[in-house]
Amino acid sequence: MALRIERSALLGPSGFEPVKRNDLENLEIDLVLEGIYQQYGFDFRDYARGSIKRRLWRRAYAEGLESISGLQERVLHDQDTMNRLLEDLSINVTSMFRDPEFYLAIRQKVVPLLRTYPFIRIWNAGCSTGEETLSLAILLREEGLIDRTKIYATDINENVLDLAKQGVFPLDKMRDYTENYIAAGGKTAFSEYYTANGQGARFNESLTENIIFAQHNLASDRSFNEFQMIVCRNVMIYFDRSLQERVHGLFYSSLGMSGVLALGRKESIKFTRHASAYEEIDVNEKLYKRVR
Ligand SMILES: C[S@@+](CC[C@H](N)C(=O)[O-])C[C@H]1O[C@@H](n2cnc3c(N)ncnc32)[C@H](O)[C@@H]1O
Repeated sequence: MALRIERSALLGPSGFEPVKRNDLENLEIDLVLEGIYQQYGFDFRDYARGSIKRRLWRRAYAEGLESISGLQERVLHDQDTMNRLLEDLSINVTSMFRDPEFYLAIRQKVVPLLRTYPFIRIWNAGCSTGEETLSLAILLREEGLIDRTKIYATDINENVLDLAKQGVFPLDKMRDYTENYIAAGGKTAFSEYYTANGQGARFNESLTENIIFAQHNLASDRSFNEFQMIVCRNVMIYFDRSLQERVHGLFYSSLGMSGVLALGRKESIKFTRHASAYEEIDVNEKLYKRVR
């Protein structure tokens, strides 16, 4: 019997090419993310796909590579490439008193709650280079709460944590930060908190005395304490739905009853499995109180 080959097979899967190419690309992305997880323990498997894809390609091109599989080989065998990719995958944009209204809402609506505790533990998850943590510390000092507070500031990226520990920020940012600080209800002159040192503004060490900076991966690590407040802003926007659910589960089990959860402007507890456990404290500033 003559061998009969379908015309479509001879032509190749051209009719389906766009879909196939996407499938292949997705397979390569799955494989590189799985490899990174198994080799280095960094779990980006459930990050929002579009953004991960862009960042992987950016790193591949920067390394002179033409495929995600090529990038996979490189990162699995070369720690330096992995470090560069890690920088690309963790977006570290931050600033002091970012969204000043958020800090104003904390002063007005959360501080009275915090005052009721003899000792306060705050988890600042995804703290990046520390500007957010320091802003919280300044606010708590002005409200007379810093001495009974411990802030656990964590991030997946050790490089940003090293910078955070130094407490030195670009001097040319201080003008913007001063404006933010005033809009956030700051009670003194912002310049009292730092000394200019070359191109840097070194923040007073007394501000960081009650802060512990440590690496923690929200995608794979566990809860490590019970907190009266958790601040995790502009981190979960990069996660897909399932990872967001995981992190909300982690926060729920880490918050004491009446504890406060603070999210970023574009984030919300709504439509997650834990939504019914919280009451809104401030709708715009995404401040929630655990009530069950
Ligand atoms: C855009 S910055 C937000 C910084 C700060 N919270 C703010 O709002 O200004 C996001 C931070 O989340 C961190 N991050 C990303 N994935 C993470 C994870 N799985 N676990 C912990 N931190 C993570 C990044 O390294 C980065 O420093």
